[in-house]
Amino acid sequence: MSQETTSNLSLLFEKMWEDYCQISPQAKRIFNLFSTNGEVVLNDHIALRTFNISGIRIDDLAKVFETEGYRPSGEYHFPQKKLYAKHWQHENEQLPKIFISEFKLEEGSTELQRIVTKLVKELTPESVKQPHFLYSGRPWKITTQEYLKLAEESEYASWMAAFGFRPNHFTINVNAFKKFNSIEKVNEFLQKNGFKLNMSGGLIKGTPEEMLEQSSTMAEKIKVSFVDGVLEIPSCYYEFAKRYPQKDGKLYHGFIAQSADKIFESTNRY
Ligand code: NI
Repeated sequence: MSQETTSNLSLLFEKMWEDYCQISPQAKRIFNLFSTNGEVVLNDHIALRTFNISGIRIDDLAKVFETEGYRPSGEYHFPQKKLYAKHWQHENEQLPKIFISEFKLEEGSTELQRIVTKLVKELTPESVKQPHFLYSGRPWKITTQEYLKLAEESEYASWMAAFGFRPNHFTINVNAFKKFNSIEKVNEFLQKNGFKLNMSGGLIKGTPEEMLEQSSTMAEKIKVSFVDGVLEIPSCYYEFAKRYPQKDGKLYHGFIAQSADKIFESTNRY
């Protein structure tokens, strides 16, 4: 891996982290909480969301990572939520995995399709190619009514419409922790410190047998401006992942669709 690649990626991840902490201040507080307790906070993966519309599909968003040496390493289906996802890995395992999901527009109602198509039309192909696109936020104008209409049908689509292109979550690599070296200990510590965790499908998603255990906070609500007013809506969440070795002794680096399905609900409004 060239030094250029390392610095391009670290700059990109730094910018993404800054944007993420700005709309999800709890992430910065949690990061600091573990750091001041002597832990080294490493990042297991960064997640992005999008719609499956030409120009902004999963593979379009992944281009910047592929240029820097990332390779597609797994795909996942979420039929109930009308989502599809892929993840990318780098040969340097210190670098976070990239998890990108998309809403399958053709499976939405006519009304949802109409609203989303209208929003995405405001994007220019040039803007998508800008290096800062992945932390540029919402590039379109949307009304509170449009947001609420989408939310009735898909929490995911409404989040995407309200927040746009930016990290949906970062994920703490629990394997790198010394004191809080299990998901149970992480969860207990966070709850003790007043953070609300996602209970959907249980506090811990996945098992050691599945080689991946995950938990996450519930996204905190922040004030977001729309064309016609302001709504207080869930922004981003922080995730925690502990990985276990495969039969060959190497750590499992994939994802479990059934667990990710529940983690998606961390941005639900209720
Ligand atoms: Ni995740």
